[in-house]
Amino acid sequence: MESHIEKQNRDVLQKSFKEMISTLPKENCWGIPEALYQYQGFWLTPPFLQGALSAQQQFQAQPTDIILCSSPRTGAAWLKSLTFATITRTSYNDSTTPLLSKMPHDVVPFMEFDHAQFSTNRHLGIPLLATHLPYSFLPRSIIDSGCKLIYICRDPKDTFVSLHHFNARYNKSQNTQPVQLDEAFELFYEGVNWYGPYWDHVLGYWKASLEHPDKLLFLKYEELIEDTVLYLKKIAEFMGYPFSSEEQQQGVPENIVQLCSFENLNGLEVNKTGKHRDGQGDLAMENNIFFRKGKVGDWKNYLTTEMARRLDQRTLQKFRGSGLSV
Ligand code: A3P
Repeated sequence: MESHIEKQNRDVLQKSFKEMISTLPKENCWGIPEALYQYQGFWLTPPFLQGALSAQQQFQAQPTDIILCSSPRTGAAWLKSLTFATITRTSYNDSTTPLLSKMPHDVVPFMEFDHAQFSTNRHLGIPLLATHLPYSFLPRSIIDSGCKLIYICRDPKDTFVSLHHFNARYNKSQNTQPVQLDEAFELFYEGVNWYGPYWDHVLGYWKASLEHPDKLLFLKYEELIEDTVLYLKKIAEFMGYPFSSEEQQQGVPENIVQLCSFENLNGLEVNKTGKHRDGQGDLAMENNIFFRKGKVGDWKNYLTTEMARRLDQRTLQKFRGSGLSV
């Protein structure tokens, strides 16, 4: 229970964050009521930025933590379901797993919302946490604790198309005017989107993965789609929950891949009609907004040749010399 003094301190801190945020460069865009604010090179809305600042000050990582990191729309829900199912495989079976009754975002706490202030009351039996924070924003305790990070990235063209559709569906649910694809494209291209510029987000984690390969596993959505079983085994090994040869003979990794497949999760009642976070709080929205097609290359159905060329060129220019290609 939070004491009166703790609450007072928290209110003072939140007030100082709000004051600081009000001085930052801001853009009203994407047809959403809240502006995006630019802080240390990245664009965030106030609730996310306040969560980031609180987490930086107060979040205490444990060495056993496994933090799932991503920029929005790159496959975080899928990664959450795969890691959650892997870690809990001896506690639940195919008919009891919480993934049947909760959407993947609801089985893994979101650091900058759920534990930004109270990092102590965590379910340490399931060491997973998720964040959208850029690498340079991560609370110091995450780096110092030596806990593990898994990052997932995706082709910027598919990431943009997914983001645009998500935003359009969100606008519709809020009765706000959706932005047209061309306008959204220019915003993304200029890096003005949630946690953008996208390329800088990816690069931060890529560089850290080169420096600390034992602590940061860097994944690509496209590779995960290409051979999900192979990558699931790598993920399990990295997390410290490897599949035994007996489990492999029994097809346990294949079962998890099937459970977490787009087709399976998308078809579950909870993901068709349920509400994220039981419809409570700032992040409340329909679960089905998080599932669309789950395909590689869907950008071909939406982007002109010129748009694709420009995004590819920007990607090349941003990633030049880093050794990273998508
Ligand atoms: P599309 O919009 O291209 O379909 P995030 O979870 O990071 O928000 O990413 C969302 C993207 O991942 C969406 O892409 C969504 O459909 C896709 N996705 C969700 N669940 C998936 C799964 N189990 N397998 C593959 N892709 C999935």
